[in-house]
Amino acid sequence: MTAARADVDLAGRTGGTCRPARQQPIQEGGLATVTSAAHVPVMADQVAALLAPALEPDGAVLVDATLGRAGHAQVLLDAHPGLALIGLDMDVSAIEESRRLLTGHAARITLVHARYDEMAEVLAGQDRSRVQGILFDLGVSSPQLDDPHRGFAYSYDAPLDMRMDTTRPLTAAQVVNTYSAERLAAVLREFGEERFAMRIANALVRERSRAPLTSTARLTDIIRASIPAPARRTGGNPAKRTFQALRIEVNGELEALSQALPVAMEALTPGGRIVVLAYHSLEDRMVKRAFAERTTDTTPRGLPQSLPSHRPRFRQLTRGALRASAEEVAANPRAASVRLRAAERISRAAA
Ligand SMILES: C[S@@+](CC[C@H](N)C(=O)[O-])C[C@H]1O[C@@H](n2cnc3c(N)ncnc32)[C@H](O)[C@@H]1O
Repeated sequence: MTAARADVDLAGRTGGTCRPARQQPIQEGGLATVTSAAHVPVMADQVAALLAPALEPDGAVLVDATLGRAGHAQVLLDAHPGLALIGLDMDVSAIEESRRLLTGHAARITLVHARYDEMAEVLAGQDRSRVQGILFDLGVSSPQLDDPHRGFAYSYDAPLDMRMDTTRPLTAAQVVNTYSAERLAAVLREFGEERFAMRIANALVRERSRAPLTSTARLTDIIRASIPAPARRTGGNPAKRTFQALRIEVNGELEALSQALPVAMEALTPGGRIVVLAYHSLEDRMVKRAFAERTTDTTPRGLPQSLPSHRPRFRQLTRGALRASAEEVAANPRAASVRLRAAERISRAAA
């Protein structure tokens, strides 16, 4: 598997999208000063415009698979008075906070603490097999990153946790204290594109034999010390790739996405639309592949005409991936790495 590009904002926090508005510029590794708590969902205008044709009819249902702090959900519920929303998040606090934020829409929302790879079960529990829209805004949220107790950010000293779902057992501490050096290096290489994966992994194994690794600060120090001095001076904080890799491993992010995408696309009605915002290359590549497989005519070459059973069941709504505008990135640095892709299930009549 090829490696992910580590995407890090100025606060030294990996990934993430539901952005607090107007953060102060800060130094590498410093703490962000949040001057407004209002959430600014990433590429909200484009997300709303792409989903609008599917969500317009009264009674349309949208699954927001990554509810976060309901930034996108709020925009879409406001735009479509006849829309019902099923919101999922694996973070209990995201569900609780979104329920509070969406009180004005209480009659139209169903919020479920679940992973998005459990979408089929959630829909079955709602007596639904088909929906009109699905949104994935992948990664970790600003509130998760900004909570110093959760250990996502190398900017704060915190316990090595990094779980989005705190009811699950695997923590970053368990990964760094129990994986073999080889397994740790593979995680850092595959999920963080870390050039010095083996050196860092060996250092972690050496250090943990002295005392278990329990804090983000100690982890950051070990990473820094294991990277050659010239490399330390380039490419931002040396801990960023390791933190991204551990977060992906702890939360099983890629496995969950690979299972969820086919189920989600299958759940769309004809004319239904899916929008995915990805923040690192491994995720985006997965989305690109899932869309390509379903938007390509697979009729064997050489046949005089395409076979109905091999015709595409979806059409791409975006040419390549859309990026956030320079203005949005200037206002919200975390939008810098976003790649948005969208597709529509082809209506039966058109197929
Ligand atoms: C970037 S935030 C979403 C922000 C949201 N769109 C908004 O505007 O407020 C991503 C959210 O997805 C959740 N998440 C990540 N992986 C998940 C998974 N496998 N299943 C369910 N939720 C997940 C995280 O807990 C986080 O709250």
